[in-house]
Amino acid sequence: DEAPGRYKVRSLALAEAGRHQIRLAEHEMPGLMALREEYGEAQPLAGARIAGSLHMTVQTAVLIETLVALGAQVRWASCNIFSTQDEAAAAVVVGPHGSPSDPQGVPVFAWKGESLEEYWDCTEQILVWPGAENGQGGPNLILDDGGDATMLVHLGLQYERAGVVPPDTLPGEPDHTHEMNVVRAVLRRALESDPLRWTTVAQALGGVTEETTTGVHRLYHLAEAGELLFPAINVNDSVTKSKFDNKYGIRHSLPDGINRATDILIGGKVAFVCGYGDVGKGAAEAFRGQGARVIVSEVDPICALQAAMDGFQVARLDDLVGEADFVITTTGNKDVVGTRHMLALKDKAVVGNIGHFDNEIDMAGLAAVPGVVKTEIKPQVHEWTIPAGVGPDGAERPERSIIVLSEGRLLNLGNATGHPSFVMSNSFANQVIGQLELFADMARPADERQYERQVYRLPKVLDEKVARLHLDALGVRLTELSKDQADYIGVPVEGPYKADHYRY
Ligand code: NAI
Repeated sequence: DEAPGRYKVRSLALAEAGRHQIRLAEHEMPGLMALREEYGEAQPLAGARIAGSLHMTVQTAVLIETLVALGAQVRWASCNIFSTQDEAAAAVVVGPHGSPSDPQGVPVFAWKGESLEEYWDCTEQILVWPGAENGQGGPNLILDDGGDATMLVHLGLQYERAGVVPPDTLPGEPDHTHEMNVVRAVLRRALESDPLRWTTVAQALGGVTEETTTGVHRLYHLAEAGELLFPAINVNDSVTKSKFDNKYGIRHSLPDGINRATDILIGGKVAFVCGYGDVGKGAAEAFRGQGARVIVSEVDPICALQAAMDGFQVARLDDLVGEADFVITTTGNKDVVGTRHMLALKDKAVVGNIGHFDNEIDMAGLAAVPGVVKTEIKPQVHEWTIPAGVGPDGAERPERSIIVLSEGRLLNLGNATGHPSFVMSNSFANQVIGQLELFADMARPADERQYERQVYRLPKVLDEKVARLHLDALGVRLTELSKDQADYIGVPVEGPYKADHYRY
């Protein structure tokens, strides 16, 4: 269903199903509900116009409605072509008090199974609000996951300032070539309709809060190059985000994705996990919990040693790929699982990615293997049959096939519904607090502002606050420091309890 400029989702008829799920999720998201309670009356986000680019799931619906409850206007797109839960998107458009014939909620541009062209059109839709061309109503904040919305503004402005119209192809573009062509086509169209489109959008923007490791890397690069257009809050590196969502969230949603996709027993099998950062730790623990024998690869000696001390074999994918029943990449890096690895896999081995972008697995290389046949088992589950021939090891190999999940994109959101509500309540409470921080700062006179065009983390006291909001729901009783004890270890009785460099 579509109303141009207002929403584009699979079907508003799904709204009721979505609303039931949102209602149950609210119960599991005590952090967000507590923020509604704390700030609902004061409306601290009144006047905030937030462009959100983050997986359009049930949990995200609770985030969106929390931002609205605090006074914000919001427009939303997903940050992945497969991650939208269509019933959640419909429910958000309809809103808690509307109906499919009279939608009263938030504009959403997202459905499961977008093409790349549609994906970037949706991203543009959240940045260009009705009335924005008159300097009215455009977004003044971005809430990003992976940095695509932020990237579109930065790239659009670069082209605009250089006075060039983005070409279809840029010779020598190193990676993501097809996708970058799609982005340039969107930018070209935008510039043709309004030559100052991105200047106007950028001028109105007062900041971004960024959800994930990959997006945060992009922001630090922009800041180091002096190109960041507005202040950024790194939500990912709140302890209550990356040490919870990236780890415990993955521990839940990785097996969820694998099970929904394949139903292959994990116990007793060999699982190869590439990367032992926060996401890798959750992935390895999940496989071990199911009784798999887990092998980990790492480039960082500290993380490699951690994996070894946690009891995992640490090896190179090149050496042991032939043993693996599952290969899951968690690195946020590119070209981690190459065509040579996929050619060396066992018959019916499962390959999946749980990092942010699809370039961790060489899908183009797999598609280019002579004689390879792709069979859709069901949406986001494909069997790739590799003809008999010589393998990458030089040995004769019979015909075999491998199962690739979500076409190499993040499988916990493509094959399942992403992380569960409780862990996302932690992440999204950080997002809301980040938006509050930036919006409050924008209201200050220019010479009193705390945030410059740099990347910031939330103060530890707010990180501890997010954790606190989740304790009661789990029946946790904190021990209280006596004044004497607090003085002895040199912290205030009410916190913060750790120095910034403490690693948890
Ligand atoms: P991290 O930086 O903690 O961990 C990544 C690890 O991969 C590092 O330890 C690094 O040394 C290692 N690595 C890099 N290149 C490698 C290679 N070629 N082979 C083996 N190891 C390699 O990052 P984090 O937080 O674990 O995030 C990883 C990715 O997952 C990011 O793209 C992030 O955006 C994404 N993410 C995905 C989520 C999901 O729901 N699917 C949730 C949270 C994060």
